[in-house]
Amino acid sequence: MRYAEITGWGKCVPPSVLSNTDLEELTDTTDEWITTRTGIKERRIANVNVSDMAVVASRHALAAAGLEATDIDLIVLATCTADVVIPSAASLVQAKLGATNAAVFDLNAACSGWIYALNVGTQMVRGGGHKKVLVIGAEKLSHLLDFTDRGTAVLFGDGAGAVVLEATDEPVGVQSVEIGTDGSVAGILCVPGVGTAGNRYQGDPSEYAIHMDGPEVFRRAVTAMGEASSRVVEQAGLSVEDVDLLIPHQANIRIIDATARKLKLAPEKVFVNIASYGNTSAATIPIALTEAIDEGKVTPGANLVFAAFGAGLTWAAAVVRWGARVKPLGLSDAHLPSVEKTAMELLESNVAFYGDGRRSE
Ligand code: COA
Repeated sequence: MRYAEITGWGKCVPPSVLSNTDLEELTDTTDEWITTRTGIKERRIANVNVSDMAVVASRHALAAAGLEATDIDLIVLATCTADVVIPSAASLVQAKLGATNAAVFDLNAACSGWIYALNVGTQMVRGGGHKKVLVIGAEKLSHLLDFTDRGTAVLFGDGAGAVVLEATDEPVGVQSVEIGTDGSVAGILCVPGVGTAGNRYQGDPSEYAIHMDGPEVFRRAVTAMGEASSRVVEQAGLSVEDVDLLIPHQANIRIIDATARKLKLAPEKVFVNIASYGNTSAATIPIALTEAIDEGKVTPGANLVFAAFGAGLTWAAAVVRWGARVKPLGLSDAHLPSVEKTAMELLESNVAFYGDGRRSE
């Protein structure tokens, strides 16, 4: 039987930091409210595009796996904020990496996208058609935010994470997985005006930003992430005691805590980095995985649980058994170009576009 092992991992977070205190200047909020209601203290704002962050994360993942870009035969890039509509961001990544032997495509399942992509990459390896796959999650959510809307501006950030999957006979990698969607309620988290449905000649500026019914999304996220996590643990033939680390989508600390409670997991078995980056959508889990490995929290043979929820409304969960190696085979010095502007300066045109209307709903 063929399996798909995660052999490389990497992340890219842009250098410009937007703190909660900065946000107090942009919209009607406070550091105290954001910290207690979400667990977020700061987030990153990109001055580059999604493909640029994806390339840096991928270079780190390739180095960790000891591979060259030309070794990769498939790239699946989970994103809902591709640089442009045509071509795919994955195609830009392929060119920048020089991954000339890879077939590539984007996958949009919003915040659940990276687990969807992990599932697709795993199945492509298991099916025998591909041997070395890059699975990337990369997002520039700041582009889709109205920074005067406190209901959304405080939650999201930019970043990228990537892993390399390689074919193996060892029973490692994805052990069980669930992906699901309820499109009938997709309107509670959407960007109505970006895409062919938007009125490109007379668009209302607010249509270019994320619209969200926060409490309803919260309620559904808690249910879907908790239940899907429990099911994949059971499907993998594991009990809760066998789970070594839950690496959940980082949307809100209260959603993470509720998911952990549902699984009856102790806090030390849950990886949380939401304070530093906020919700980077499809990038949260591969960024968190990379940091968990760097911090020594992923041990050889560990049983990891990933769980996510996002626009669509999508959800996903997976059990991954880690292989024998937790050290990178090599290191890369890839990084984004330095940026002169602060995060607040990068957002000047956003704030000018949306005005100082201080939208609060
Ligand atoms: N700063 C200060 N006050 C805020 C605020 C902010 N950024 N956002 C909302 N409020 C206010 C509300 O206006 C409301 O005031 P009121 O009681 O006077 O009416 C109060 O805080 C409570 O608002 P509510 O929306 O009920 O708060 P909440 O506890 O549900 O938290 C979210 C709001 C958005 C943080 C929370 O619902 C959430 O995280 N939802 C999930 C969002 C998400 O993760 N989306 C992506 C999915 S991948």
